[in-house]
Amino acid sequence: MRLGISTGGGDAPGLNAVIRSAVLSALSRNWEVLGIKRGFAGLMGDDDVVSLTRESVRGIAHLGGTILRTTNRGNPFAWPRPRGDGTYEEIDRSDELISNARQLGIDAIITIGGDGSLAIADKLAAKGMRMVGVPKTIDNDVACTVTTFGFDTAVSTALEAIDKLHTTAESHDRVIVIEVMGRHAGFIALHSGLAGTADVILIPEIPYEMSKVADKIRARDRAGRKFSIVVVAEGAKRKGGQESILGPSMPGQDRRVGGIAGRIAYDLQELTGKETRSLVLGHLQRGGQPTGYDRLLATRFGAAAVRAVEAGSWGHMVALQSPHIVTVPIKDVLKEVKRVELDHDVMKTARETGISFGD
Ligand code: F6P
Repeated sequence: MRLGISTGGGDAPGLNAVIRSAVLSALSRNWEVLGIKRGFAGLMGDDDVVSLTRESVRGIAHLGGTILRTTNRGNPFAWPRPRGDGTYEEIDRSDELISNARQLGIDAIITIGGDGSLAIADKLAAKGMRMVGVPKTIDNDVACTVTTFGFDTAVSTALEAIDKLHTTAESHDRVIVIEVMGRHAGFIALHSGLAGTADVILIPEIPYEMSKVADKIRARDRAGRKFSIVVVAEGAKRKGGQESILGPSMPGQDRRVGGIAGRIAYDLQELTGKETRSLVLGHLQRGGQPTGYDRLLATRFGAAAVRAVEAGSWGHMVALQSPHIVTVPIKDVLKEVKRVELDHDVMKTARETGISFGD
């Protein structure tokens, strides 16, 4: 067996732990492993394909990032090609990818990615490429798995920031609005906000009203709590409003959601008369060492993906369905959109402990 491994989409802490675990598991079966660099670019002549050995994965489990590098502009079915006049067209280069993989003698590919990479894996599998997926994203928005690796680390990073903001907000009687990532899902905001005892959490799943957020801050003021912490997911929107877009995307890239914290802070200061500050936590949430939870999950996923290859579970994704790691058809994963469930106990706990969602 000659196995290819690729990491696609935005990076997430734990990628290297998956790679290490998959490589060691494959080598222990006397398989060969090739690392496809920068998403699938390595298979399209735009980057390299390298041999992965014990030596290549030594001492990497605790490191953020990915030794294979990654891109969120590398869909082989919609590859951006410059037209020469400054504009781009999207072309399908999937046949080229498959033919190059065959020429290299690659029998199967483990692709580590989020919903975008899994959709690509599903389409490649439909064309006969033997694919196994590993769910990765800090956003936790992949269905059929309790969680993705990277999420726990992102929540811990956000939590540390919220803890620090509490002390300065309290010292100055200020409102501080912190924007966290998550794209169209509110998991990072909800989990870090609840664990960090935020006063308001705004998530894409619950469109908010600014007047309700201001009411909560005024009520705290009247109760002698002169500061407030608002955690806002980058994809949150007002009732009847749209997601905030950061700016133009590069060719082949999704819309870039975010930039809402500054606007909320501006409006809150106007409405409450309280000094308000904001910050965007941004890519700090994607970097650094994976937590113990993420490192363990990533290591389990890597080995499970190799077992899935051995079992011939093509077109499947490894998933955590506690307490076990299972495999699920990628098609089933793509059918569902995973978002915060409004009747989940985490939501109930947040409401019962006095957190406002601005609704
Ligand atoms: O999907 C992971 C994620 O970090 C999102 O939370 C965020 O919206 C996006 O990627 C940012 O992407 P980029 O790295 O292109 O700025």
